[in-house]
Amino acid sequence: MSGEYKTIIEPFKIKCVEPLGFAEPAEREDVLRRAGYNLFNVPADKVLIDLLTDSGTAAMSAEQWSAVMRGDESYAGAKSFFRFEAAVRDLTGYAHVLPTHQGRAAERILMGVIAGPGKVVISNSHFDTTRANVEAAGAQALDLPAPGALEFGRSAPFKGDMDVAALEKEISKRGAAGIPLIIMTVTNNSLGGQPASLKNLHEVSEVARAHKIPLFLDAARFAENAYFIKLRERGQESRSAGDIAREMFSCASGCLMSAKKDALVNIGGFLALNDDEWAGAARALLILGEGFSTYGGLAGRDLEAMAQGLSEVLDEKYLSYRLRSVEYLGEGLRRAGVPIVEPPGGHAVYVDARRFLPQIPPERYPAQALACELYRLAGIRSVEIGSLMFGQEGPGGFVPAPMELVRLAVPRRVYTQSHIDFVIEVFADLARRRKSVRGLRVVENPRVLRHFTARLEPVPA
Ligand code: F0G
Repeated sequence: MSGEYKTIIEPFKIKCVEPLGFAEPAEREDVLRRAGYNLFNVPADKVLIDLLTDSGTAAMSAEQWSAVMRGDESYAGAKSFFRFEAAVRDLTGYAHVLPTHQGRAAERILMGVIAGPGKVVISNSHFDTTRANVEAAGAQALDLPAPGALEFGRSAPFKGDMDVAALEKEISKRGAAGIPLIIMTVTNNSLGGQPASLKNLHEVSEVARAHKIPLFLDAARFAENAYFIKLRERGQESRSAGDIAREMFSCASGCLMSAKKDALVNIGGFLALNDDEWAGAARALLILGEGFSTYGGLAGRDLEAMAQGLSEVLDEKYLSYRLRSVEYLGEGLRRAGVPIVEPPGGHAVYVDARRFLPQIPPERYPAQALACELYRLAGIRSVEIGSLMFGQEGPGGFVPAPMELVRLAVPRRVYTQSHIDFVIEVFADLARRRKSVRGLRVVENPRVLRHFTARLEPVPA
């Protein structure tokens, strides 16, 4: 990066700053109690380091803010739309580009066109909202991650791959007619932010083509995935991230995108695809629910910021810093004796709370307990991906999730290395006192997506 020196520095300087939320320990205790031990209920100004999500939390660049001023707010046919459309076409090669207010709106529209009762959508792993939209359309969402993707302690370069043999088996069992779509999520957020290889994308693409089943990418983190390919896949090291990304998109005939991740914006998304008939039907739903087809629920300025972000994100100085800074957090946690999903992902490090807090059984929510302890100790906010999110408590008893993880998602271009060093130091302290961490029980249990609104309380020691 800088000649012979190996430190990978933040490749930007800071033009605009925002204060962190320094709450005192007693206040954090009180905030936690009032939030019902649910970090979604914590006001952001009481959070010191916010690792809840990498979605919509990026710092935009000076070029993006300049583009915002260029935004054309015409209702129909705005210049900003055509700039945005050209940026998406240049990257993906797909003919039709439909802006949406965020990723899940693109999911709802696509599933409204193609899914329905009796259909099965197959993915390496559906993100929660994708799964929810498949199911809301009456279809089933089936995950076929690569073998070993759930062995969290085992490192492998492409744990985001799809199990191609299992895919072929499902197609021959169900018949291609019942499978309207295959989705490759790059990177795989649900299982540790792990990338898929180009080899796997080509293999899935071939199987899909042989059975005439369309393949789409869930491209929320396409640039991080492309750079992992450059770093890890044999024969790809001398290609540009942009080239690799274009080849990834060429394996599929459409994509869903939450622009709040790798388009480096705070709001936005799109659906892009080649099929004229699907595009026509999707456009009708877009106008019905989002807005006219040249703005899709966004302002012209948002379209400008996305267009700029989509090209900035492929800057390799940015991407090497991005993946390195997340890896640095993973290395620090490992050194502190904290078990993580190996290797660290592109946007986040996932802590394995089952192994870190073995004294807390799944029905006492070890990952949520760990997330709360991080907040109590130092005002760090993270998110549970475990039995609070995916487990069930009902008349039939408690059904735990297959994993108990805490995701530390790193917002793009927001925190510096000293913020990350601080997080590592807090974890080292937590590792020393981990035996004293107690579990939680649910006291208010909403029926759907309960992790957003459930209330909990500590279980007496
Ligand atoms: N697909 C993936 C892989 C995602 O990670 C997300 C969002 C979506 C689709 C939906 O996009 O939020 O713009 O509607 N993930 C966020 C997260 C919420 O925290 O991981 P959206």
